[in-house]
Amino acid sequence: MDSEKISFIQKNAEQAIAEARDLTALEQIRIEFLGKKGQLTACLKQLGNLPPDQRPTVGQIINNTKQAISAQIDQKKALLEHDAENERIAADTIDVTLPSRSRHIGSHHPVTLTLQRIQRLLGSAGFEIAEGPEIETDHYNFNALNIPESHPARAMHDTFYLEDGHLLRTHTSPVQIHVMQEQTPPFRVLAPGKVYRCDSDLTHTPMFHQVEGFAVDTEISFAHLKGLIESFLKAFFEQEDLPIRFRPSYFPFTEPSAEVDIGCVICQGEGCRVCSKTGWLEVLGCGLIHPNVFANVGIDDEKFSGYAFGMGVQRLAMLRYQINDLRLFFENDLRFLNQFKGQIH
Ligand code: PHE
Repeated sequence: MDSEKISFIQKNAEQAIAEARDLTALEQIRIEFLGKKGQLTACLKQLGNLPPDQRPTVGQIINNTKQAISAQIDQKKALLEHDAENERIAADTIDVTLPSRSRHIGSHHPVTLTLQRIQRLLGSAGFEIAEGPEIETDHYNFNALNIPESHPARAMHDTFYLEDGHLLRTHTSPVQIHVMQEQTPPFRVLAPGKVYRCDSDLTHTPMFHQVEGFAVDTEISFAHLKGLIESFLKAFFEQEDLPIRFRPSYFPFTEPSAEVDIGCVICQGEGCRVCSKTGWLEVLGCGLIHPNVFANVGIDDEKFSGYAFGMGVQRLAMLRYQINDLRLFFENDLRFLNQFKGQIH
């Protein structure tokens, strides 16, 4: 063992380090030359075989060589780590120039907007929501509402009958019966929902939406009904001087009954196609709850009185948003629906 052998080892080590392709290979080299059983450690162990006067010099050379190799390994290690990092970054490159995915903002259907608007306005007047079934019995849809078997009003309802004797409700008024049977007055209730009539033309669809409202309390009068309806319609159409008239009418379940007209919102009362040149538009039916209805649900009509009203949601939506064709509500054409983007009730 002499300095020549040591410099031979060093050359080998340097070459191996230069050729190392990755960190594992480099670690192998470190073990091979500097490890406990490595080549330079073996040299140190052989120092004892040398004449004593040579030992310090050769020992010094071995130590310097160890340090030199160790430094080179560290240097190469830093280089390989840097390369590995670059490789990793290159592998998961994202292309920041790609266009982002656009967010599609939906819109509420005008019928939904109108339902929400009615519920908000009447909700603030103390009405609570109730729902009833769309599949009804004769009893709830007719009899209990004072429309007996032979009553001509039945023919006007164009009822869809189901095979088992049930029917699709023709109006939301049966919810009155459900609530009055289940709750004790006083109450103020709003019943929105779908209704069905066997009728289909330009101005009628077999399914449409109604909102029923009713209140039962002691000493409810027609004045309460009139006041409520007037403030509701003015708020709904955002017009304080909206012309409103109550026209005497007939419903079997209310007495007295009225239909409510507003000044045509299209022609401002001038007379147009929409109001059939009358200047007025019918928007809801109403009245004081008939004593026979109270009797059918066991409410004492000596103690309690009540009013009820019902309105068509599509009709109110058409007037508020100036929609001139009922069919638009059911086609779900995006060119129509997109016009309600960002609308709130
Ligand atoms: N149910 C009636 C209809 O569908 C509307 C109405 C409701 C009238 C409540 C009076 C009271 O035409």
